[in-house]
Amino acid sequence: MARLPQHFIDQLLERTDIVSLIDARVSLKKAGREYTACCPFHDEKTPSFTVSPSKQFYHCFGCGAHGSAISFLMEYDRLEFRDAVDVLADAAGMEIPEDTAAAPNGPPREPLLDAMRQADRHYQAALRRNQDTIDYLKKRGVSGEMAKIYGLGFAADAWDDLTRRLPDKPAAARAGLLIERDSGGYFDRFRHRLMFPIRDTRGRTIAFGGRTLGDDGAKYLNSPETPLFHKSDHMYGLYEARQALRQLDRLLVVEGYMDVIALAQHGFANTVATLGTATTASHLITLFRHTQEVVFCFDGDAAGVRAARKAMEHSLGVMRGARRVRFLFLPEGEDPDSLVRGDGGRQAMATAIESARPASEVLLGQLTENLDLATPDGRAQLVERGRAPINTLPPDAFRAEMVAEISRLSGLPADDIRALYAADRSAARPTRPGDDGQTKKSAYSAELPPVTRGLMLLLTEPRLAACIETTDGLRDNDNPGAQILAEAIDFFAGNPNVAVAQWLEHYREHRFFDRLQHLAAANPPGDDEHRAGEFTDVVARLQQYSHSRASLRQRYNALVAQQESAPLDAAAAKELKEVWSQLQGRSPRPS
Ligand code: UTP
Ligand code: MN
Repeated sequence: MARLPQHFIDQLLERTDIVSLIDARVSLKKAGREYTACCPFHDEKTPSFTVSPSKQFYHCFGCGAHGSAISFLMEYDRLEFRDAVDVLADAAGMEIPEDTAAAPNGPPREPLLDAMRQADRHYQAALRRNQDTIDYLKKRGVSGEMAKIYGLGFAADAWDDLTRRLPDKPAAARAGLLIERDSGGYFDRFRHRLMFPIRDTRGRTIAFGGRTLGDDGAKYLNSPETPLFHKSDHMYGLYEARQALRQLDRLLVVEGYMDVIALAQHGFANTVATLGTATTASHLITLFRHTQEVVFCFDGDAAGVRAARKAMEHSLGVMRGARRVRFLFLPEGEDPDSLVRGDGGRQAMATAIESARPASEVLLGQLTENLDLATPDGRAQLVERGRAPINTLPPDAFRAEMVAEISRLSGLPADDIRALYAADRSAARPTRPGDDGQTKKSAYSAELPPVTRGLMLLLTEPRLAACIETTDGLRDNDNPGAQILAEAIDFFAGNPNVAVAQWLEHYREHRFFDRLQHLAAANPPGDDEHRAGEFTDVVARLQQYSHSRASLRQRYNALVAQQESAPLDAAAAKELKEVWSQLQGRSPRPS
């Protein structure tokens, strides 16, 4: 996602009131300093969804949903980041800065989109004139209507068929349509192929997939990564699915272009495909922006099982509330296209979808694979294997179910498993007394690493920044979180009245964005006075740690220098060894 200038986002959020924004969609009730409602993101009867006017942040204690006004629109109205910004800017009466869609990352996107539009039109017209390709589609059972809806096209068996039609060749090359020759000049990337336009959620063509119509090398050729197209973010067919169905109760995720089209033609318009890559976290986030249930369809072979593992891994992090993930393994040799066009037809596919296995079952299958649960060792290994995936899950029904299953199979009481896993959960989850046994202790406890505690306190009460005299010793800390804590302290020291949600937006593309949002939602208990003491204490300890490491490093360098001029005596040699191992072990860590 290309970025808009930060000052624009800042201003936009300053002019937006998250309370009225949400209240227009979900009716809010005032409760103390906050507002509450029944959560729009999961089913509930008693309200656990809260909106904080001071933080300009929403948070649900039930399902863990949280974020800024932008995040809310993305989730609730199912918008992309850029479209959510458009809506807010419109409401705030602000102009979006001209063509900044790509400005910080390079030249503007408009010429690339133009080239795509022209290519799209050309390929589609060429298909209508090419009887061989029309026959090929007929043979594969693709209707004319589908060819039109999906914008299928034809790339001629020539080097310059597209090249000579595109006026802005450098832009077309940047869009991946043409390839520049070393000797100068350009040639067509796609030759003698059936063309599948890949569209963004606004319906603009941003890339192509091309299936060979001859027998030259790769069966499918996709556009390369370009300023318009990142294949690990996009999914084929999502735009068309959204056009066909107002409400996407479920999305089927398949592997191939032809699978998407065949399923759509047989009544499953709710189908998308990844683009020749494994499922990514970004895919899952996009999928759940549009639906509550995802059904992955994989081949029943080894590759399919591997692909399912990847999909599972990324599903766990986004599983919450009413969201569901299921897995469908097709019989070997079948793909959705062959299944739906086979003897069983539409019904065979419908039955297969209904029998798709729930994520819990598939995950348990993965966890117990090759283990002998009749032995104590096998049962212990199961508990160990469960740790990472369980700790990825938000604390809700799905996690409880998984813990219960692991408990049943391992014979270890669920409470013990929870205690065992909780020991290394460093990321704080939002908590409320009575949520579940494990989080009751409160995330605000001495077990949390100091950076986590510091950020949680500061994001609850930004005015704490004023208690800190200097951020030296945080910025040069080994811990990447300390750097962020320093940035937050400096920011809020200078902008005590800016809402936390606005500060968070600066980190939307940071790898810690999710974690930071969790921390902002945590609301640790305690009064202001107690918090101030706690906060200065945490910062001081981090600084001390950093200083003690700096002096360790200094001492190490001095000893090494000394050793270079003359052999060390026994005491100095021993000290060098100790200093070195302390530096390696990154200890002593502050607690
Ligand atoms: P498949 O080989 O299963 O093809 O690849 P398919 O979709 O069933 O195609 P047909 O039925 O033979 O026409 C599945 C997907 O993997 C990607 C494409 O996205 C394809 O749709 N792929 C496959 C590539 O990117 N490159 C390849 O060479 C092959
Ligand atoms: Mn196929």
